[in-house]
Amino acid sequence: MATEVTTKAAKRFGVNIESDLALEFLRVVENAAIASAHTMGQGERKFSDHVATEAMRQTMDTVPMKGTIVIGEGERDEAPMLYIGERVGAEFPDGTAVPEIDIAVDPLEGTNLCATGSPGAITVLAASERGGLLNAPDCYMEKIVVGPSCHGAVDLDAPVADNLKNIAQRLGRDVDDLVVIVLDRPRHEKLIDDIRRAGARIKLIGDGDLSAGIAAAVIGTGVHAVMGSGGAPEGVLTAAAMRCLNGYMLGRLVIDKPALEQRIAKMGIKDKRKIYTADELAPGKQLIFAATGVTDGALMRGVRFFGEGVRTSSLILTRATGKVRFIDAIHLEKNKDVKIRFS
Ligand code: FBP
Repeated sequence: MATEVTTKAAKRFGVNIESDLALEFLRVVENAAIASAHTMGQGERKFSDHVATEAMRQTMDTVPMKGTIVIGEGERDEAPMLYIGERVGAEFPDGTAVPEIDIAVDPLEGTNLCATGSPGAITVLAASERGGLLNAPDCYMEKIVVGPSCHGAVDLDAPVADNLKNIAQRLGRDVDDLVVIVLDRPRHEKLIDDIRRAGARIKLIGDGDLSAGIAAAVIGTGVHAVMGSGGAPEGVLTAAAMRCLNGYMLGRLVIDKPALEQRIAKMGIKDKRKIYTADELAPGKQLIFAATGVTDGALMRGVRFFGEGVRTSSLILTRATGKVRFIDAIHLEKNKDVKIRFS
């Protein structure tokens, strides 16, 4: 079963990773979302993460590719599945070549959100040709994420008030019209204070700075920027989405422990204070970003179970082919006579 290839069209490999694999990766995030949504509100964040990881791993092995996990659930000795360096994917029985793909996963982004039934939990991955995603260590990353109008308007080392003034100018509005998302953490006390003093509005979130970043790059979500430090793996995934949505992002790894210094040295990173752009975090020429809502969020609804099936809401982005797909899917499970409602 693990080596079964599901799409005949995928035999055209090498032609276009994005076109051939986008819908395959859609299945991966959908299945992970459905699995974890069953655990919503049970207060078991680790278990929710585990079932998402398991479903993602199983589905990955039906995708025709030579995949390597470059950002995953941890190092090999600490994660049983989707660990960094793990090989995933299926081969064609007749030996037809399959593409080499690097994959960054966050099987359940917002484990607490799922465990408490709060908005904003998603399943998410990014994929590219080999070398197209920075193999970031599992540490924090300082981030600023803004939308397409704000390219070059912000700087991680600039005063918060200056960044907000520049964002407001680019968006043709006043600073006090802006909404900035910040993770509600003690480490952000000064940042929150600075934003308040500058006059902008703040939306504090408990978890999920990746979804917040995507919202900042899409007009009409009511989010104008995301600021503060969150996970570096989430930062790489956000960067992949920014490259597909034409958003702007800056990130700097927070290297505050000797073990991390050694880790980045091994990775060939010489300057630990380097500020990365989205192009450097996710440099792939071909990029796929796929996410499915587990609980309701700004851009995707959560998984809905009904009598005969399941309804999911996903986002699939591709960089080179320039597609932004919002996918509303109904997965019929039990009864062929099921009635489908439009919305
Ligand atoms: P999990 O899904 O692993 O629980 O992470 C959620 C999250 O809020 C991310 O969105 C964010 O980047 C990171 O955790 C922040 O880390 P911390 O909770 O340590 O501040």
